[in-house]
Amino acid sequence: MGRPGRRWLLSCITGFAFAFLWLTDPTTSPNNLQVLRKFAFQVSWTTKEILYRLDVGWPNRPEYFTGTTFCVAVDSLSGLVYVAQRGDNIPKVLVFTEDGYFLRSWNYTVDTPHGIFAASTLHEQSVWITDVGSGSYGHTIKKYNSFGDLVQVLGTPGKKGTGLTPLQFDNPAELYVDDTGDIYIVDGDGGLNNRLIKLSQDFMILWLHGERGTGPAKFNIPHSVTVDSAGRVWVADRGNKRIQVFDKDTGEWLGAWNNCFTEEGPSSVRFTPDGKYVIVAQLNLSRVLLVAAPPVGSIGNCSVINTIQLADQVLPHLLDVSGKTGAIYVAEIGANLF
Ligand SMILES: *[C@@H]1O[C@H](CO)[C@@H](O)[C@H](O)[C@H]1NC(C)=O
Ligand SMILES: *[C@@H]1O[C@H](CO)[C@@H](O)[C@H](O)[C@H]1NC(C)=O
Ligand SMILES: *[C@@H]1O[C@H](CO)[C@@H](O)[C@H](O)[C@H]1NC(C)=O
Repeated sequence: MGRPGRRWLLSCITGFAFAFLWLTDPTTSPNNLQVLRKFAFQVSWTTKEILYRLDVGWPNRPEYFTGTTFCVAVDSLSGLVYVAQRGDNIPKVLVFTEDGYFLRSWNYTVDTPHGIFAASTLHEQSVWITDVGSGSYGHTIKKYNSFGDLVQVLGTPGKKGTGLTPLQFDNPAELYVDDTGDIYIVDGDGGLNNRLIKLSQDFMILWLHGERGTGPAKFNIPHSVTVDSAGRVWVADRGNKRIQVFDKDTGEWLGAWNNCFTEEGPSSVRFTPDGKYVIVAQLNLSRVLLVAAPPVGSIGNCSVINTIQLADQVLPHLLDVSGKTGAIYVAEIGANLF
């Protein structure tokens, strides 16, 4: 009940000047256990400013969040939201509708989820998880169907490493799968590997950058990756406090943004559906930045358009944006400390 009403209400509200915009997060109180938040997309009618409003009713029943939520993926083609959480004796992957209804969960073969990505075509719904566990499914990237059946495992399960044949990972952080099925992996979060790898859909390495360092195309904890519609790959190079950008076909380095992240490196990077903004999470600062995306051509400097300041200690880790509605879903690893 209520969900169709909410959607109607939202689309009405966006047609008017919206008087009570919350750019801070008003609902975190000592007994609030919700650890995944949805921010609905709004455009101010008067100023044309892009603003976000916390959707306090999402999900319908937050008590499904029994662990620590590390990541979230939106499959807007199917209207599904996948959330992965860590903890003992709990379901690790929760599946909701974009309207906030819980559908199902699984924990089979999921050890310690870090990043998640939903890749959907008209023929296939799938969800990919990077696993940083040390158990028998750790240090892998796994593909599941929408019901949690394991379809593919990349990496050497249970064993971290630097190898390329066979492929090994060390705490792979995140991945992105584009429309053609090509896969972009950031590996990782463990310190051993600092790599951006592009794989074809049959898992051949197409190009890679694999050196630790501060220079162009070198990394220090590459933590999140996304691809824009202009064919550029964007990497949150967290330890170097910058975002680096590459050509998706050649892997050529196109530029970097440093100036927005002097206080803390970015932990998550995603685009809004219109490609105009990059949404970036900063973990310890508990904030989400809305950054103007450069059109094709020079990357230039970055410029923050808006900031969503979350409550202290919320720690936004990874986020995703609905390609349909522009809503931002944020996985908060700190919110359940309360
Ligand atoms: C898997 O999830 C169920 C609840 O859905 C829980 O009872 C069980 O302990 C979990 N198993 C593991 C290994 O975490
Ligand atoms: C956040 O703070 C913790 C504790 O001080 C620190 O270990 C971690 O490296 C910080 N993370 C980032 C992304 O700055
Ligand atoms: C970026 O900022 C730096 C330092 O403020 C400045 O020197 C440089 O010209 C700027 N670059 C662009 C492309 O605007």
